[in-house]
Amino acid sequence: MARWIIAIDGPAAAGKGTLARRLAAHLGLPYLDTGLLYRAVGRLVLDRGESPSDAEAASRAARELRPTDLARSDLRGPEADAAAAAVASVPGVRAALLNFQHDFGAGQGAVLDGRDIGTVVFPAADLKLFIVASPEARAHRRWLELRDRGVAVDPAEVERDIRARDAQDAARAIAPLRPADDAVVIDTTALDRDAAFAAVLEIAGERLVPGSA
Ligand code: CDP
Repeated sequence: MARWIIAIDGPAAAGKGTLARRLAAHLGLPYLDTGLLYRAVGRLVLDRGESPSDAEAASRAARELRPTDLARSDLRGPEADAAAAAVASVPGVRAALLNFQHDFGAGQGAVLDGRDIGTVVFPAADLKLFIVASPEARAHRRWLELRDRGVAVDPAEVERDIRARDAQDAARAIAPLRPADDAVVIDTTALDRDAAFAAVLEIAGERLVPGSA
């Protein structure tokens, strides 16, 4: 089995997770949702009654993160989103999480999704995809997801939060959200899940050379 490293980045609720999970299963590679790392660090900081934008507190939580923290059931939703984006702009947090991500990919290869996988975490990845969709489409998908989980939220508020988080992720000084120069951009605004996955498979088929990893 090839030990490819595949980086799937993009803005909030663009469908990266669904595509990454499917691609990992298709290729027989482990999958890591790196957003969970930032979400879990944000939660740890909140548990301790500290502020996610307090660099000291956030860095300490990142150093103390345990794999079981990633299985918490309260890592999604508006409060967790905001805490994740706040701790994600702290350099000490990003440094502490880098080893975990490298180790995850080092053994058998992996598919990882996030914001900076292709630019910072694995700049030499075998394949880099940058998944985008209009803010309206992304907000609608996130709203459906929340509704299915029984969380009642105002659609306009979901769109506002998504736009605010994108702006924060793109403007931060460290590892900002942007496509790597060699990433392939896929716009899923007009694509359903299967069509988006078909587009990913087509690019993977062109770019991943058997026996290259
Ligand atoms: O699922 P969604 O796209 O809404 O978010 P996520 O991928 O779980 O990421 C949550 C937050 O963590 C993002 O808004 C980023 O601030 C941060 N993050 C990051 O900075 N770098 C990553 N590789 C992954 C997430």
